[in-house]
Amino acid sequence: MQAIVLVGGEGTRLRPLTYGTPKPMVPIANVPFLARTMERLYEAGIRDVILPAGYLPQAIVDYFGDGSKLDMNITYVIEDEPLGTAGALKNVEQHVTGPFFVLNGDVLTSLDLRAMMAFHKEKGGLGALHLIKVEDPSAFGCIVHDDDLRISAFVEKPAKGTEPTDEVNAGTYLFDRAVLDMIPAGRNVSIERETFPKILAEGHALYAYTTSDYWIDLGRPEHYLAAHRDILSGAMPLRLEPGLTGNGAAGARGTILPPVHIDANVTIAATATVGPNVVLAEGCTIGERATVRGSVLWDGVQVGDGASIDETIIASRARIGAGATIKRGSVIGHDAIVPPGAVLEENARYGEPPK
Ligand code: GTP
Repeated sequence: MQAIVLVGGEGTRLRPLTYGTPKPMVPIANVPFLARTMERLYEAGIRDVILPAGYLPQAIVDYFGDGSKLDMNITYVIEDEPLGTAGALKNVEQHVTGPFFVLNGDVLTSLDLRAMMAFHKEKGGLGALHLIKVEDPSAFGCIVHDDDLRISAFVEKPAKGTEPTDEVNAGTYLFDRAVLDMIPAGRNVSIERETFPKILAEGHALYAYTTSDYWIDLGRPEHYLAAHRDILSGAMPLRLEPGLTGNGAAGARGTILPPVHIDANVTIAATATVGPNVVLAEGCTIGERATVRGSVLWDGVQVGDGASIDETIIASRARIGAGATIKRGSVIGHDAIVPPGAVLEENARYGEPPK
């Protein structure tokens, strides 16, 4: 079995984080998200992974290489222009040898891929789609199926109140190779809007594999923070080594309010308060009397004396000046400098695209 992980999106909703880091390489508790996805594929017995990339692909290639360090074989196919979620699959056709998984590169889930393989084997058809039930389906692709689980309709982002179901596309598919014959070559094609409806219109069967697994799309800042809260609380089972508190937890000073994950070489002043729901990556520094709550700080972030940070994501090496206040929902980019005493209002975006 092969897997194609879609990693070519620009991740515009996660800007300015994605100016410097492609979305699949955004760290989840200090490890690039894609590395966690690779781990799941490995556990399911999958060794052959194809990565259709295009936006900042070098960061992905530099980290994973040919995959041999993971005992996997990784093939990169770089798109000159974004080909969309189905066009990207068509573009890697020559590397696909049989049935294959497709994973959106930004979905964190505890889905059991082996169980999904067994489901597809039992049901047959051209493919199986992973579905989950959500409270507000209007923001998602709704998928309607019959009692035999055969899919009868796709309704993308229906207006509130008109949703035909609460079951939505969770971004993991298992296809027979013949699906690739249904995608036109050489142009941008959306799997959700074009290919799925076409498969149904031509009378082929797709089946709905609905589970109650943990599932979150990391593509929005509030989801990224929610995913970390869930990981820290254990709601999302994730192997964190060694344990949830991290390499730097033992020597941490200051007032630590768990759950908190602290990586190596982190310095916290004795009068600082960190937590709950905080991740501090390698080399972060937290100044005297500073407070950090509900936030994820990537490596090398410096927080000045007396600064206050609430429910914020801060990318690598950013510096928060003394006495600055960063209000909830904010996102701060790589190497950004927030001046001393500055106040960033709720949901601020602070950071420039690289020159
Ligand atoms: P936003 O710009 O914030 O919407 O993010 P995105 O561009 O990543 O788009 P979206 O979340 O809808 O994409 C779902 C998955 O498909 C992600 O893993 C993307 O990396 C991937 N993806 C989206 N468009 C393309 C594309 O044109 N080519 C490839 N190879 N992957 C894509």
